[in-house]
Order: sequence, then C-alpha cells, then structure tokens
Amino acid sequence: KNSEVTIPVQFFVIASNETLEGGWVPDSQIMDQIDVLNEDFANAMIKWDLVNTTRIINEEWFEGVSADNDVDKAMKTELRVGKQDTLNIYTVELTRRFFGYATFPDDYDEDPKADGVVLNYRTLPKGSLAPFNEGRTLTHEVGHWVGLFHTFVEEDDRDEDGCNGDGDFVDDTPPQLEPTDGCTVQDTCIDQAGEDNRANFMDYSDDSCMQLFTPGQVERMREELAVYRDIDA
Ligand code: ARG
Ligand code: ZN
Ligand code: CA
Repeated sequence: KNSEVTIPVQFFVIASNETLEGGWVPDSQIMDQIDVLNEDFANAMIKWDLVNTTRIINEEWFEGVSADNDVDKAMKTELRVGKQDTLNIYTVELTRRFFGYATFPDDYDEDPKADGVVLNYRTLPKGSLAPFNEGRTLTHEVGHWVGLFHTFVEEDDRDEDGCNGDGDFVDDTPPQLEPTDGCTVQDTCIDQAGEDNRANFMDYSDDSCMQLFTPGQVERMREELAVYRDIDA
C-alpha cells in the first residue's frame, strides 16, 4: 500500500590524507554501503539515491568531529547540502567504540545545518571494525534519521518505567529493557510477550545479526518523513 519514495543522498568523505587509514575510503565501499542501505529499506519502499560524493582532506574534522561538538558544527555548516528531504552523510574517524550518530526529523527546524548522519569510516562494508563492518551502522543511523528510536530502553530511563514505559512508540517491537550483545537470544522484559529484538536494525546487535524493520517501524518512518521531511508517502 505504500508508494515508493526516493531520497537524495550527499556523501562526504572526510580524511586526513589519501590513505585508507587516513579515512580515504574507495568509491567501491561507498557503492556497497548504498546497496546495503537500499536492501535494508526495501520493505519500507524507500530508495536512497547517491547524488554526489565529495572528498575533503581536513585533519581537524577527520580526527575532531564528535556528537554535538564545535568541530561537528563547523564541518556541517560548511558542507551540508539540500533541505530537510536530503540525507547528508559524513565519514570521519570517531573512536573505535563509537560507530556513528544521527539527528532526528523533528530536530531539523531547530538546527537545519546539524541534520544528517556521521559515520565511523571503519563501519562501511569491508571496513576494519568487525563485527560492525557490514554497513548496518548506516542502516541503524538512517533509522534514527527517519524517526525511529532504539528497540531497547535508554540507560537513563531503565530505572523509571523500565519495561512498562513508552518504549520506541512502535506497536510490534516487543518491549526490551537492554540492548542485545552480539547475537544472543535475550528476553530482558520477561513479563511481556516476545523475545528481545536482536534481528532489528534498531537494536545493538552485530551487523550480521541485524535484518529487519517491522511493519510498525515502517509505518512510523513514513509518517515522520511526511510530517517533518516533506517527503510524501
Ligand atoms: N551506537 C550507535 C547508535 O546508537 C550505532 C550502533 C550500530 N550497531 C551496529 N551493529 N552496527 O546510533
Ligand atoms: Zn542508535
Ligand atoms: Ca519479553
């Protein structure tokens, strides 16, 4: 019943020099990454169209960008392209344990320039961050960019309502208190029906374990795109 929508993608490779360790990822890895994104959003009928790849050598940005910091602001202010309907992706170094971060659709009005996804370049398909090197970090971050929350309760909220809270505002993802580690079968909300969402892109499982968005998540993302990103579904 959903119609197909196509979302333009602007890809920025930020590097400290023209080597792989310096963040200079080859076009082949970027293509593979966009393919993974398209496969993962196929059931949502969302297509991602790579419009342009921009390569920039800037050591300060490559090494210094982190969520919400001044370097993040400076980089995005200079580079971001398009309106709220355009996905801007930046690959930078980050640290080995920090894979990526994203803004949500309803953040756009407050700070349009900040909108987009920042990715650890080692998470791209065939990157060095195994078992997080099959491109699922981008799928997960773009999940946030289209308005999805984690399937598990955020650490700060666990003591409050726990398994009985609002969760991710999606009906068909079983309540889950804690993120999945690896691909372990867990049931961290034992009193509620359903095991944890280890196969879900919005959990924290290994890339090879992640395979789906539920119909409820698809419905939510299409609504968020219509309301906040002017992308009619
Ligand atoms: N830590 C990141 C976030 O919360 C992404 C985790 C991605 N997981 C993965 N299996 N690639 O947005
Ligand atoms: Zn996340
Ligand atoms: Ca349960």
